[in-house]
Parts: sequence; C-alpha cells; structure tokens
Amino acid sequence: MESSGAADYIFKIVLTGDSGVGKSNLLSRFTRNEFSLESRSTIGVEFSTKEVQVDGKTIKVQIWDTAGQERFMAITKAYYRNAYGALLVFDILKASTFQNLDQWYSEVRANAGVDCCIILIGNKSDQRHIRAVMSDAAKKYADERNIKYIETSALDATNVEQAFRTLIQDIY
Ligand code: GTP
Ligand code: MG
Repeated sequence: MESSGAADYIFKIVLTGDSGVGKSNLLSRFTRNEFSLESRSTIGVEFSTKEVQVDGKTIKVQIWDTAGQERFMAITKAYYRNAYGALLVFDILKASTFQNLDQWYSEVRANAGVDCCIILIGNKSDQRHIRAVMSDAAKKYADERNIKYIETSALDATNVEQAFRTLIQDIY
C-alpha cells in the first residue's frame, strides 16, 4: 500500500477472464455508470480509477482491463505485477468461459503476489433465464479455492458496486 496526496491508499485491481464475458463493461459501470451493448474487444491495456470510502479512509482504486484473447498474453507479467486484487470473470450464459477459469486463476496466482485477493464474478445475471452455468457450480468452484462468488449484471448494474466493494474491503 502506498500513500498519496488526497487518497489514504492506492490499490491496483485487475480484471481477468475470457473475451466477451463483460470485463470492460463491469469497469465502465463501476467507474462511470456506463454500459455499452456494442462494446468492442479491448486492445492492449486500459485502466480507470475510482475513489472509494472504506472505514472513513479514501482508497483510490486503479482498475486494469485487458483483452481476454490469447494473442495478447505477452503482456501478462506486467499486467498482474503489484495487483492487490483480481476479479475473475466468467459469463453465466457461456459454459466455456466457466471451464476456462482454471487458466485465468493459475495466471493470477502465478503472476500476482501470493496475497492477491481474488473474487469470482458470474456476469450477465440479467439473462439468468438462459443461463448455462448454475450458481451452485460456481459457488462450489469458489469455495474450493476459498474465494467469494458474486453474480453481477453490468447491463442493469446489479451487484457491480457490491462486487468491487467486497474485493476492496477484502484487500483493506
Ligand atoms: P474482451 O475485451 O474481448 O476481453 O471482452 P470483455 O470481457 O471486456 O467484454 P465486454 O465488456 O466488451 O462485453 C462483451 C459483450 O457482452 C458486449 O456486447 C456487452 O454489451 C455484453 N455484456 C457485458 N456485460 C453484460 C451484462 O451484464 N449483461 C448482458 N446481457 N450483456 C453484457
Ligand atoms: Mg474488454
């Protein structure tokens, strides 16, 4: 943790998971309250910051976002370096994004510090009537790794603030 001018702490958080699961929209929903139905796949690395109050302290979170596409894997090490937390995101409508979680989980564990906090996010809950991944299966995956599981919708904003806040509080 570093001290800065206005903020009491600065945390780096990373978004990780397959392409199309909604990482960029979770970020835009949380930092700017924006959502786009036609967002493009992220190219390279982007980040946004937001100040959050926890226990009367101002925490500046710097959230990093990159493409879930393998062709960008070269940036991996720098991406995870000094991350205090990671949102491991899958799409509840698409089973393959859940099956690929191990790859992302290992990547975080291998490249971020040992005490990097991880939270599992099942995104697109607004479409849960056509879900392909059951909550119980995701909960079990999270429990086995001793991490929390939250279902979110970047589209209707359900639990987005809560997911980021939960992670930030766990780090703090
Ligand atoms: P990459 O940058 O390629 O890794 O993808 P990403 O994980 O950043 O996905 P992105 O945020 O670009 O979203 C992909 C698509 O899913 C877009 O068409 C979004 O509009 C849509 N989407 C994202 N979040 C939600 C959600 O909560 N609900 C629904 N219904 N669609 C969503
Ligand atoms: Mg993206």
